Amino acid sequence: MIEFQTHEHDVIVIGAGGAGLRAAIEASSAGVSVGLVCKSLLGKAHTVMAEGGIAAALANVDERDNWKVHFSDTMRGGQYVNNWRMAQLHAQEAPDRVRELEAWGAVFDRTPDGRILQRNFGGHRYPRLAHVGDRTGLEMIRTLQDHGIHKGINVYMEYTVVRLIKDGDRIAGCLAYTREKGRFVAFKAKAVVLATGGIGKAYKITSNSWEYTGDGHTLAYDAGAELQDMEFIQFHPTGMIWPPSVRGILVTEGVRGEGGILLNNKGEQFMYNDIPDNYKNQTAKDPEEGWRYCQGDRNAQRPAELLTRDHVARCIMREVKAGRGSPHGGVFLDISWIKKKIANAPEHIKKKLPSMYHQFKELGDIDITIEPMEVGPTTHYVMGGVKVNADSQMSRVPGLFACGECAVGINGANRLGGNSLSDLLVFGKRAGEHAGKFAKENSATSLPKDQVEAAVKWALEPFERQGSEGPFQIQYDLQDMMQDLVGIVRKEDEMVKALDGIAKLKERAKKTKVVGNREYNPGWHTCLDLHNLLTISEAITKCSIARKESRGGHFREDYQDKVGKWAKVNLVTRKGPDGQMQVEEVPIPEMPADLKQIIEEMK
Ligand code: FUM
Repeated sequence: MIEFQTHEHDVIVIGAGGAGLRAAIEASSAGVSVGLVCKSLLGKAHTVMAEGGIAAALANVDERDNWKVHFSDTMRGGQYVNNWRMAQLHAQEAPDRVRELEAWGAVFDRTPDGRILQRNFGGHRYPRLAHVGDRTGLEMIRTLQDHGIHKGINVYMEYTVVRLIKDGDRIAGCLAYTREKGRFVAFKAKAVVLATGGIGKAYKITSNSWEYTGDGHTLAYDAGAELQDMEFIQFHPTGMIWPPSVRGILVTEGVRGEGGILLNNKGEQFMYNDIPDNYKNQTAKDPEEGWRYCQGDRNAQRPAELLTRDHVARCIMREVKAGRGSPHGGVFLDISWIKKKIANAPEHIKKKLPSMYHQFKELGDIDITIEPMEVGPTTHYVMGGVKVNADSQMSRVPGLFACGECAVGINGANRLGGNSLSDLLVFGKRAGEHAGKFAKENSATSLPKDQVEAAVKWALEPFERQGSEGPFQIQYDLQDMMQDLVGIVRKEDEMVKALDGIAKLKERAKKTKVVGNREYNPGWHTCLDLHNLLTISEAITKCSIARKESRGGHFREDYQDKVGKWAKVNLVTRKGPDGQMQVEEVPIPEMPADLKQIIEEMK
């Protein structure tokens, strides 16, 4: 007999990073009962890895900023395959969401006259990132957690959701298990919001921690929702590369925003050797002008180090490949050089970048106030995700919503730094609001017992198998393969090989055997994660093969240019009687004239 407990809420939010917390707060404010289910401990979320700030056109540091400039920067950064409506809502609503966060108690660094301080970041025309040192994501989570807890939200910590349950076409809840004891729990709900973050653990080098295995993407796909543009992966240019145990940990773009420069082993500031045409008129002509920009000179242009992340990551790879890299296979990021320019540089660096100072001191025995860091690209973020309605965040499955990193749209082919934190505030709020509304307007569904039991049976299969292989080696093999064959620079033959490799790994995963029982069993958790990791890896690889051009986070050695006819999106659906994953290109709806005009004017 299969035993499970059942909890009932109007709205279930899966994932308790910034987007999930913001959605839960909003749904709860609508007066519905909310359950917040998280795989890890509350507050442990990839949101904290957005260190440098929240992008919002508050215009506190430069009054020329406004939502139109932010909208046009976001579209340009995303190489015009963004969902323009989401980019518009995001740019318009981000300032209010930041002020709201401040009213809820978030502490920000301040301008001399007491307003929220904003710093420079890649691809943003003006200093736009509201921040607290280099711990902005952490401050955001702390604030949302404190605020949410007083809303009476029920929090279910250390629960993994394995399947969404439907009643007919409509969402009816989900099945989860407790990670400690392995007990099954069914959640009955009128609406479900997915806010599970990204997919970093499909790659070997990543800033993501163990939770990020593409759960929301896969749950949605399995439930009949569409995924979109999974080829667009962001490799953040600066992760730690040494020592090996910390490889991939993020080094905030805030270092470059504060004047940090990238150097090769010849001491050259190599970013100035390759400035893309569409950023030429917004990039400093030399490092001296770049520094003046960082110091607030309004007549200067951004340093080349603050070009978009996709471009900076590729330039770093090029230096390494050409033998101009650092001893451990990256390049140098130097902030200590500013001692030539300002008095008290070490104190200034420690004040502006306290976490970076401690991170390198503790983990690498490097003092960033006197020596350069070694950095290289790290898998940081997925721009692709669950396709949702721009205004409501509902997917094509009635009652199923998605927001934050696991939803697609605002970022197009490449996300600008800091837009993730504003995205999760703007669209977390919208998802919570609309899920609450949906729950109020729709009667309760039933939670079909046969589906719950089938999901439990599926989750227990690894204990019944006769195979001899454990799940960890399969995950390592997948990570190595994705890193090598579907990484920063891609080629058709390598990706075809990866697709074949994924099919083989799927066969191996079907035979994985778990020993022990359901209590405290990481092997079992990984067995279940493999389904998600393999599903999203297939989606990433198929979309990458389909897009025969280079755009943003998707760079193909065999198709190096951006091609006009490819200004489309890739939709991923399960089709046919055997449930094959299919990818089809779909045109982007025409942008309204007023938005087109904004983009023209900003050029
Ligand atoms: O570099 C960073 O601080 C990361 C920010 C982001 O991903 O938005």
